[in-house]
Amino acid sequence: MSALEDDQVLIQVGAVSLNYRDLLILRNAGQDTVEGQIPLSDAAGTVIAIGSKVSRWQVGDRVAANFFSNWLGGKYQAQHYLQGALGGSQTAGVLAEHIVANQDAIVAIPAHLTLQQAATLPCAAVTAWHALFERGQLQAGETVLIQGTGGVALFALQLAVAQGAKVIITSSSDGKLARARTLGAWQTINYRQQADWDEVALALTDGAGVDHILELGGPDTYARSINALASGGHIHQIGVLTGFGPTPNLWPLQFKNAHINGILVGSVAHFNTLNAFLSQHQITPVIDQEFAYEQASAAFDYLASAQHFGKIVINVQS
Ligand SMILES: NC(=O)c1ccc[n+]([C@@H]2O[C@H](COP(=O)([O-])OP(=O)(O)OC[C@H]3O[C@@H](n4cnc5c(N)ncnc54)[C@H](OP(=O)(O)O)[C@@H]3O)[C@@H](O)[C@H]2O)c1
Repeated sequence: MSALEDDQVLIQVGAVSLNYRDLLILRNAGQDTVEGQIPLSDAAGTVIAIGSKVSRWQVGDRVAANFFSNWLGGKYQAQHYLQGALGGSQTAGVLAEHIVANQDAIVAIPAHLTLQQAATLPCAAVTAWHALFERGQLQAGETVLIQGTGGVALFALQLAVAQGAKVIITSSSDGKLARARTLGAWQTINYRQQADWDEVALALTDGAGVDHILELGGPDTYARSINALASGGHIHQIGVLTGFGPTPNLWPLQFKNAHINGILVGSVAHFNTLNAFLSQHQITPVIDQEFAYEQASAAFDYLASAQHFGKIVINVQS
């Protein structure tokens, strides 16, 4: 292994987690998949060596890498995605026993979380936090609609409930909806049984509509999200679960004085404010299943099956 640069740390990876994005990359859905690239963006581990000018970290610190190695804070720039997204076309991912990171591109893990739990945060939790809290400025008493029960969705549920918001969550599974209720969901809708979930959401809010909608579906859900939105509400445009490139009629948004927030994960600064909130409310991520390092391919298959509720983790250190 080559020597660390002055401002780098060497991390022994404890655990990594999977995101829907990792399936998209595997399938070359963005047409920019690089053969041989190390996959995955989300890791947590322990610092085992530091460069000569590292001041923020010591050997033994428990840390997680930010999704963007180069978006530290402030305004997002295009090169953050192109050059800094871990496991993307230009930057190596984290499915490895050791990773090297710049000291500014990592965050301290909340004390109440295990490495497995912390490994679920960098993509899904930071995205939910960035949408609802940084851009949406979510307030207690507001309503939130969340699509599905995957990683981003369940973090949004837990964060919104902790803030005192009223959450409507949709799922294809009544069993998953029952579990979402135990996490504090206010209302649940089975989108297979009630395809017009937007009308159901309007009825549940006495016709007012929902203040924040996490748009995770894309083409098959976007028009319904616009219909279900309250005046002055926010659509947080995040996901592509039903494909790319929705072309909804945006005209109704004008008559709702509404916002569309394009969301792309988040910065190191966002990750740190998220972690402070997680610590304050002692929020524990929902892990559906853990796999051994040697079973990484089975973990991908399980993600593709969409049976999971929350996050899927791979233990790198047994
Ligand atoms: N913009 C960003 O920065 C960003 C960051 C993270 C993720 N994303 C995107 O956000 C989406 C979610 O990511 P994830 O990693 O959380 O995914 P995930 O954990 O794989 O979530 C999969 C779940 O989504 C639900 N789902 C699928 N089709 C649906 C539909 N038509 N309506 C409602 N729910 C549906 C299903 O839940 P049920 O089984 O309960 O039905 C499924 O189990 C993906 O499209 C991902 O690419 C974007």
